[in-house]
Amino acid sequence: MKKRLCTTAALALLALGTLVLSGCGGAGSGAKTAVAETEIPRLEKRGEVTQLIVGGKPWLALAGELHNSSSSTARYMAPIWPRLKALNLNTVLAVVAWEQVEPTEGTFDFTVVDDLLKGAREHDLKLMILWFGAWKNGITSYVPDWVQRDPARFPLVRTAEGNTLNILSTLGEQTVAADARAYGEMMKHLAAVDPQRTVIMIQVQNEVGLHGDTRDYHPAAAEAFAAPVPQALMDYLAAHDGAGLLPELQAAWNAAGHRASGTWEQVFGRGDYTDELFMAWHYARYLDTVAAAGKAVYPLPTFVNAWIVQPQDRRPGDYPSGGPQAQNHDIWRAGAPNIDILSPDIYLPDFPTIIQSYSRLGNPVFVPESTVGVAGSANAFYAIGQMGAIGYSPFGIDSRAADPAAEPIGRAYATLGSLSELILEHQAAGTIRGAWLKADNPAIREMTHSLGNYDVKFALRTTRGSADVPPMGYGLVMLVGEDEYLVAGYDTEVTFQPKSGPGIAGLARVQAGDLVGGEWVPSRWLNGDEIQLRYDLKAAQAENLSGQGLRFRGDTTLQRVWLYTY
Ligand code: DGJ
Repeated sequence: MKKRLCTTAALALLALGTLVLSGCGGAGSGAKTAVAETEIPRLEKRGEVTQLIVGGKPWLALAGELHNSSSSTARYMAPIWPRLKALNLNTVLAVVAWEQVEPTEGTFDFTVVDDLLKGAREHDLKLMILWFGAWKNGITSYVPDWVQRDPARFPLVRTAEGNTLNILSTLGEQTVAADARAYGEMMKHLAAVDPQRTVIMIQVQNEVGLHGDTRDYHPAAAEAFAAPVPQALMDYLAAHDGAGLLPELQAAWNAAGHRASGTWEQVFGRGDYTDELFMAWHYARYLDTVAAAGKAVYPLPTFVNAWIVQPQDRRPGDYPSGGPQAQNHDIWRAGAPNIDILSPDIYLPDFPTIIQSYSRLGNPVFVPESTVGVAGSANAFYAIGQMGAIGYSPFGIDSRAADPAAEPIGRAYATLGSLSELILEHQAAGTIRGAWLKADNPAIREMTHSLGNYDVKFALRTTRGSADVPPMGYGLVMLVGEDEYLVAGYDTEVTFQPKSGPGIAGLARVQAGDLVGGEWVPSRWLNGDEIQLRYDLKAAQAENLSGQGLRFRGDTTLQRVWLYTY
């Protein structure tokens, strides 16, 4: 019998002895039907997480985002595709710009889309298209020149001093109509030319929000700011009052008197945060109109990305004010029901804290932009292992693909790729945890998770006789049987303690190996120096430890461990 690793969904059968390690069940792994293979990708809540369903099965996006200009021609992309494949990506995030799609008003050219589909299909990759319309990083530069040259029709933002910025105002009625029309045409084209579902998700605009001021002072914006808060937003507040709102918005509303109506300043108080909420509403409404035009013809899952607040930022406008930053999520949820995911672009070092703040109120977790290297690999493991992420995507992946063998994310993706079916099942079952460890932050040199009958502790790898630890480590652990775990790690040591009762966890058996087509293939039985972490057994016993554990060095590898208690 093939010994396939399975999820806890099968543990009951395991206990009955009817199944040793069978194939995994669940929505994603049943017999594929022709219908499922061609169904439109969708998001589905499975257990506590939201997953992206592609071809009838959950999809773990081991992704990378191209540099902004790379996808503009097939010629530039030709040598890049195979290198992306060599990095073990399964999904590529690529720009389609309004200026290329509608160079003349009303005349559409989808060469860029068709070239991307062709390149991705030839390399067995999925795509997420990034629609660069009115805004890219908050700036207006990807619009066709007929938009750029006509500020009377397509109005620009004004500062508090009355100066014009080269940023389209959210209040331009013709702007949103033209942007939504072009986007809708692209989605109509995709629906017609992509029955294979090569494109699995869409990003609308890029890192929107207002630079330079807390809010737009264009006359139309000033008028809207002085008017009552739209009823739709007041209804949302009333419906989610209490535990359904983020604490920061609830606090602002309460502090201003918890009013049922009024102007923006009456409802939320006077200040920068209210200006930001006002901008968030108008960006959300604009992007929702665009997203809705697409969904009406082709309902692909849709996300936006946030330029997140940086440590040096003092007020909105230092970062793009009103973007889908964590503190604005209620407003975006209320104003943009056609947008499914509010994603963070995380370049800051404290990845775990940031990703947690972007997963509040059930926001599905997806990271469209972040870093590569060991840090990027740690981010991917934590996002996927701990946060139930749909996927992870370092930015500028094409310049990292020059020497795929030297790029750590390629190795991390190889491991995650071999585990992806299992990971997705364990995400849904709640039986996976992830670890992200950093030497220069004492608070996260180790992470302990409760899973099954044991507490599982990840710590940075130590070397006997030395106080040195590596700069970063990471890992993930899945409960694959009664007292049995599958662990992937890098520069980490993993120890186990029984969760309740007296006793110490012993390692009954440890194997290094690989998952090949779902089947566990041991490469070594690990014992002796490979699992003995310490020899001060009396001190270890006092800490409820055996002195043994799993040791992972600087290469992402897999180990399977069977525990007992003594
Ligand atoms: C974030 C943006 O979303 C990307 O398009 C790119 O400009 C990167 N920043 C550059 O670091």
